[in-house]
Amino acid sequence: MMFSLARNLPSTFKSAIRFKHTLPSLPFDYGALEPIICKEIMEIHHTKHHQTYVTNLNAAEEQLKDAQSKNDVSKIISLGGALRFNGGGHINHSIFWQNLTPDRTEPSKELKAALEQQFSSFDNFKKELTTLTVAIQGSGWGWLGYNKKTGKLQLAALPNQDPLEASTGLVPLLGIDVWEHAYYLQYKNVRPSYVEAIFEIVNWKDVSNRFAVAK
Ligand SMILES: [Fe+2]
Repeated sequence: MMFSLARNLPSTFKSAIRFKHTLPSLPFDYGALEPIICKEIMEIHHTKHHQTYVTNLNAAEEQLKDAQSKNDVSKIISLGGALRFNGGGHINHSIFWQNLTPDRTEPSKELKAALEQQFSSFDNFKKELTTLTVAIQGSGWGWLGYNKKTGKLQLAALPNQDPLEASTGLVPLLGIDVWEHAYYLQYKNVRPSYVEAIFEIVNWKDVSNRFAVAK
């Protein structure tokens, strides 16, 4: 059996085993988020876009392993961009799918209280995150994160596939993908309508769990 074989290997061999990243399954059907996000968008977003980040992350890690074996520092440095972009894309989308649900959910008592304290009201939090996210120039993500140093919730807007925690130190709780691949087939150029609508399908149970773990 695979796992017992790996478990019985000497530690020097274990460190040489590299597990490839794989595309995580969606926790719902492609059409489950309609009418907020149509089936076609979900299917392309998951099977094409997210899959490409996974494939390219694995390829970049292979090159990194090769460069490390040759002690090629220049090559190692040159791989930074590909690792950030594709690794970020994999991390961000893996969170995004968990952040969404066709079911009606509510924030936990603790998260709701923290949001109200931080942003005056729950509606004002949604308004601030929407405004920040809609205003992102080009492609990127709007985030609700948790700042472990201050113990407070914090909003952030990041470009491209920059991952929240590696870029800012904030623990990601809720991410909104505003790459055009996330909405253009359905919402065309009207990004504000997509961002406002996405709050209808936020999985507050997942966001609340992330908040509880981060604290
Ligand atoms: Fe995306």
